[in-house]
Amino acid sequence: MAHDPKIIAIANQKGGVGKTTTTINLGAALAEKKKRVLLIDLDPQGNASTGLGVDHDMRDATTYDLLAGDVTLAEAIQKTTVDRLSIVPATTDLSSADLELVDNTKRSFLLRDVLRGADTAALGFDYILIDCPPSLNILTVNAMVAAHSIIVPLQSEFFALEGLSQLILTVRDVRQTANPDLRIEGIALTMYDSRNNLSLQVEDDARENMGEMVFKTVIPRNVRLSEAPSFAVPVLTYDSGSKGSAAYRALASELIEKTKKKKAA
Ligand SMILES: Nc1ncnc2c1ncn2[C@@H]1O[C@H](COP(=O)(O)OP(=O)(O)OP(=O)(O)O)[C@@H](O)[C@H]1O
Ligand SMILES: [Mg+2]
Repeated sequence: MAHDPKIIAIANQKGGVGKTTTTINLGAALAEKKKRVLLIDLDPQGNASTGLGVDHDMRDATTYDLLAGDVTLAEAIQKTTVDRLSIVPATTDLSSADLELVDNTKRSFLLRDVLRGADTAALGFDYILIDCPPSLNILTVNAMVAAHSIIVPLQSEFFALEGLSQLILTVRDVRQTANPDLRIEGIALTMYDSRNNLSLQVEDDARENMGEMVFKTVIPRNVRLSEAPSFAVPVLTYDSGSKGSAAYRALASELIEKTKKKKAA
């Protein structure tokens, strides 16, 4: 059935906070719930592609080719080992430097033009999740301009909230210039350790300052989550009964509920 997918960017300019882990496993959890999901690897590191088993020699058509207009979205999509979960892979070609060369007025809209194009609905996806690089560069801006909303993974560690104001300023800027309807879908606390006072403190701080914006679900620190990518599968495949799997299933349910409420409102 043709319909427009909900497009969500997973963004935080801080490195190593769980963006890619969230993109892969939230995507897999949504797919398990019978949603059709497309992941866009928008990070030249290509971690989401590797983590889902798209080896380098399989990356013929990449996100870079897509942004350059050399392939269509349909041509760039690859299936993964997970039912209903597809990906557009990335390689190091996708450096922001090349995009800087594009005409100023166009370069922030490259991904939007592709994902919000007339042909997307026919592909039948319910969700498109964009894995952003650890930067507020032109790639992340492209994701924010293309997306309906963003999910911000926040590592439950000291200084976690630092940098969030910079991110929110960028969102505000994108709203004013290119994408007035961009919303913050939610902040997801990651690598949470309930035995650690610091985690509790970061959670308190986040809920006090950001209120409803913080997802009820928190993602625990779970070694299965860090092991799964080396087996080239989501944690839901690698260890379905793990705490990490349960957490991303809960996050997917919360997201689906939010989407429903939004539609009803
Ligand atoms: N909940 C978790 N429990 C344990 N390890 C985790 C968890 N989430 C992420 N990790 C591990 O932490 C590291 C960083 O996670 P990830 O790659 O998802 O972050 P990122 O924000 O995408 O990083 P980058 O900014 O480099 O793109 C990885 O080794 C990952 O396996
Ligand atoms: Mg990453």
